[in-house]
Amino acid sequence: MATKLSRRALLAAAEGGALWMAGCRASSDATSSAPARSAEARSVAQVVPAQATRDGAGVALRRAIGSRLLPLLDPFLLLDEIRSERADEYIKGFPDHPHRGFETVTLMIDGAMEHRDSVGNQGRLVSGSVQWMTAGRGIVHSEMPKQERGLLWGFQLWVNLPRKLKMSAPRYQDIAPARIPEVTTGAGFARVLAGSFGGETGPVEGIVVAPTMLDLTLSPGGVLEHSLPATHNAFVFVMMGDAALGPEGRNVAARELAVLGPGNTLVATGGSEGARLLLVAAEPIGEPVARRGPFVMNTEEELDQAFEDYRSGRLVGG
Ligand code: CO
Repeated sequence: MATKLSRRALLAAAEGGALWMAGCRASSDATSSAPARSAEARSVAQVVPAQATRDGAGVALRRAIGSRLLPLLDPFLLLDEIRSERADEYIKGFPDHPHRGFETVTLMIDGAMEHRDSVGNQGRLVSGSVQWMTAGRGIVHSEMPKQERGLLWGFQLWVNLPRKLKMSAPRYQDIAPARIPEVTTGAGFARVLAGSFGGETGPVEGIVVAPTMLDLTLSPGGVLEHSLPATHNAFVFVMMGDAALGPEGRNVAARELAVLGPGNTLVATGGSEGARLLLVAAEPIGEPVARRGPFVMNTEEELDQAFEDYRSGRLVGG
């Protein structure tokens, strides 16, 4: 479905910029000459409510990808939200545990966590920071809350690695809030974690699936149009408020995840209280996925090997 855009908006889109437009986005002044690039708004293919569960040492969380409702959205394996003001729901954290075969992305909205790993990295994840960790062939790490009271609010996303990179060396990108570009317009603002928005490029780099990851705040009625590669799988998780998504204006509420269908443009309108959205898109990998606990490989045999390597101390190092 084509989306009507003003000439100015089309020019901006052609330059790769995202479009924030307050109020009415449609305009009748578009010329009859067709633009080289036509926007095709992505519909909402599926709305998935995040499911309450526990992980780590008993941390209460909500799982939006990796649950029975949405086991996988290639290349995304898991999306968890931790959001609690009750210390007993988060204080025990995620003590030492291994990973192999994928990447973990941690986004802190509020509160602080400390990360330590077997490669020697140590980092304090503060409000507004993001950590992109490539587990590769193996890492053991801990992720522990550094607060004893108050709101802890963060997300963890697991992004798969293709077969040829599953056994690559671990890598760690710890990004402080000051390094994350913010793009402000009349209708809201975006924090550009990965990918591009409004002429800014996020600090996360060198990721094979070329992810887009945006923390978007929409004012009430504010309309966002943002171009996304048509080949990328994409989702929007509503962190706060609610939003109307897609050309059909499907209402999606807080703690719901919308899987976006085919097309090359996200269209989103902030609800009556506005909305805060996490937009994530990436190139799907298209390989078999074998997963068990903290390991994600292509085959069951490779999973068995990962457990054997962990037991025998060969998962890390070497
Ligand atoms: Co972990």
